[in-house]
Amino acid sequence: VPIAAKRDGQTVDAPDIERLVAEYAGGALGDGPMAAFLMAVVLQGMDARETLALTRAMVDSGSTVALGDLGRPVVDKHSTGGVADAVSLVYAPLVASLGLACVKLSGRGLGYTGGTIDKLEAIPGFRVDLSVEQMRRQASQVGCVIAAQSPDVVPADGMIYALRDATATVASVPLIAASVMAKKLAVHGDLILLDVKAGTGAFMRDEASATALATACLAIARQQGRRATAAISDMSQPLGTSVGNALEVAEAIDVLADRRPGRLADLALQLAARSLSVLTGATPTDADEAAHRALRDGTALAAFGDLIRAQGGDPRVIDDAAAILPAAPVRIPIVAEHGGFVARVDAEAIGTAATVLGAGRHRKGAPIDPAVGIVLGVRVGDEVAAGEAIGEIHSRTPEAATAAAAAVRTALLFASEPAETPPLIYGWLATEAA
Ligand code: URA
Repeated sequence: VPIAAKRDGQTVDAPDIERLVAEYAGGALGDGPMAAFLMAVVLQGMDARETLALTRAMVDSGSTVALGDLGRPVVDKHSTGGVADAVSLVYAPLVASLGLACVKLSGRGLGYTGGTIDKLEAIPGFRVDLSVEQMRRQASQVGCVIAAQSPDVVPADGMIYALRDATATVASVPLIAASVMAKKLAVHGDLILLDVKAGTGAFMRDEASATALATACLAIARQQGRRATAAISDMSQPLGTSVGNALEVAEAIDVLADRRPGRLADLALQLAARSLSVLTGATPTDADEAAHRALRDGTALAAFGDLIRAQGGDPRVIDDAAAILPAAPVRIPIVAEHGGFVARVDAEAIGTAATVLGAGRHRKGAPIDPAVGIVLGVRVGDEVAAGEAIGEIHSRTPEAATAAAAAVRTALLFASEPAETPPLIYGWLATEAA
């Protein structure tokens, strides 16, 4: 019933949405009807009530994570998905080193965008399936936890997310809002911090649609009495320099070790500082200084080591990432054919090229290759000489490497005049309480 109603553009009653999700999560409803419903939502949309019902049904498919009193404020951060977006890997240990606790449920890669869970699994031994009790204990002992939705927690999101990835039903405001917010409502923290991406590397292609997504997420938070704030951040070009799971872990470690300034570091620092000032009342200047200090003095990097150790990973990775992380057998440079100023770096094309190399999935549940990916050193506004090496492909085979290098070159546009650098954050939205 809800499938036909949504196909025809009608509003679906909350109990019908709840039943659909419960049946799918319980195995009584197959992938086919669920995919049809999702496609109907992509095409017809959902109003705020329907979106809330979908979110709540996903939360109710599992248990929730009550953290009790940890003695420090708890923040939960989420990105709506981007390319070279390893912010969560930096943010979680950074805020833990600032005296907050960060407990977050993350996702796997979706389409051409990377997923925090896939990235962390590139670290040998790292476990992402934690029980509620393990999450609680780690939050109190280590101050940061990054876990996957699991058979225990928001299982319906895990299933629907994988199905959307395989059925071209990702880019939808209500589906993304419900997916993100179900994971956030399942953890009972003090602040939900959203990084809503806008641009060619994001599901929301411009600032206006990213603002619509942020507004939908904040409406869910408000209706559930939760405090939330959202940054609308730029994804018109890859955020960091690395795309690919192990490569992004290595880059996050460089940022945490304060040896990789740039847009990835700046965004993680700004999100951390905002969290600190909302949760502790610190002035923006003091919060900003504290965040920079935590990178400089090594406490944020040490917190990442603690997180990795607590989740079974090899903590030596923070001192010698190259020795511990999986490495691809083939590496070739990306050579610029043209000289000039970089005017565009098509983030979706770069993300797709990394997916084709094996860093992402083409089928639901398919394995990924943690070692492969793309390192691209140039950003919009940079000047490049013809013949200059501007990056590197990490690949399984020489053929795949050559094809990826060509795809990256096609994703770049050069101009004779310097192009303007897009802002890092377009603006902030918040619930009244934040
Ligand atoms: N991140 C999520 O958790 N869900 C989505 O649907 C998109 C990005």
